[in-house]
Amino acid sequence: MSEAILAAQNLSLSFGGVHAVRDVNFEVREGEVFSIIGPNGAGKTSIFNLISRLYDCDSGDIRFRGASIMGLPPHRIAGLGIARTFQNTELFEHETVLKNMLIGRHVHRATNLLGEILFLPRVRRQELEFRKVVEDVIDLLDLQTYRNKVIGSLPYGVRKMVEVARALCIQPQLILLDEPSSGLNPEETEDVSFWIEDINQEYGATVIMVEHDMNLVSRASNRVLAIADGEVLAVGTPDEIQTHPEVLRAYLGD
Ligand SMILES: Nc1ncnc2c1ncn2[C@@H]1O[C@H](COP(=O)(O)OP(=O)(O)OP(=O)(O)O)[C@@H](O)[C@H]1O
Ligand SMILES: [Mg+2]
Repeated sequence: MSEAILAAQNLSLSFGGVHAVRDVNFEVREGEVFSIIGPNGAGKTSIFNLISRLYDCDSGDIRFRGASIMGLPPHRIAGLGIARTFQNTELFEHETVLKNMLIGRHVHRATNLLGEILFLPRVRRQELEFRKVVEDVIDLLDLQTYRNKVIGSLPYGVRKMVEVARALCIQPQLILLDEPSSGLNPEETEDVSFWIEDINQEYGATVIMVEHDMNLVSRASNRVLAIADGEVLAVGTPDEIQTHPEVLRAYLGD
C-alpha cells in the first residue's frame, strides 16, 4: 500500500449556482479501502460521477495510475479497470442475476463481430474464461441461490449485492461503492464489511466507498475523507476523522 492509484487534483464542479465540488484534493493508495463521508448534498456522489466521467469537471484533474482520465469518454472507464455501483441500484429488473452479471462483460471482450459469428477458438476461450470470472464472483458474494432469479423478485439487500457482483465482473482494480449499506438492515450492514474485506483482500481491488454508517466506515476503512458543502474538511484514519473538530461541526453544527 503505497503509490496512489487515484488522485483528484483541485477538482471543482458546479451546477448553476451550486458548488457541488470545490477545489477538492485527495489521493487513494493502491490496496486501501478509502471512504468518503459527509452530510447529504456534500458532493460525494458528484465525486464518483466525475471519476466515472459522467460529469465533466469545471477545473482540476483526476489521475488513474498517474495518467489523466479527463479526456476519456465514460465507456472507456471500465476498460481501465474502474467499476462502480450506484446509490440507487441500476439493474435490469426483468433479467436474471446471471444475465445482469454477464452484461458487465462486453468491456473486457477483445474480439470482433466476425469472430463472434464464426465462434473462433479464441472467442470460445474468452467466453469460457469469462464464465469462470462470473462463477468466482458468485462464490465470493454467496449468490449461488439467486443466480437464475429475476431481479424484480429479489429483496433489496440481494439486489445491492448483484450490483456489486456485476461491477466485479470487469475484474476492476478500483471499485467505487456509493452507499453500500443504504436500505439494509443491521445484519446485512454487518455483512457489508465482510464482503468489502473480501473484495479488497481476496480480489485485490482498491475500494472507494461513500457511506453514512460510521460503524461500517470505521470497521472497513483504512482512511477516510470528510467533505461538506463540496469542500474537504479532513482526511485521516477513522479515529482521527470521528474526533476531528471540523468534521464534528459539519455534522452537529456549532
Ligand atoms: N445533476 C445535478 N444537477 C443539479 N444539481 C446537482 C446534480 N447532481 C448533484 N447536484 C447538487 O450538487 C450537490 C452535491 O450533490 P451530491 O449528489 O454529490 O451529494 P451527496 O454527498 O452524494 O449527497 P447524499 O448523501 O444525499 O447522496 C447537491 O447540492 C446536489 O443538489
Ligand atoms: Mg450521494
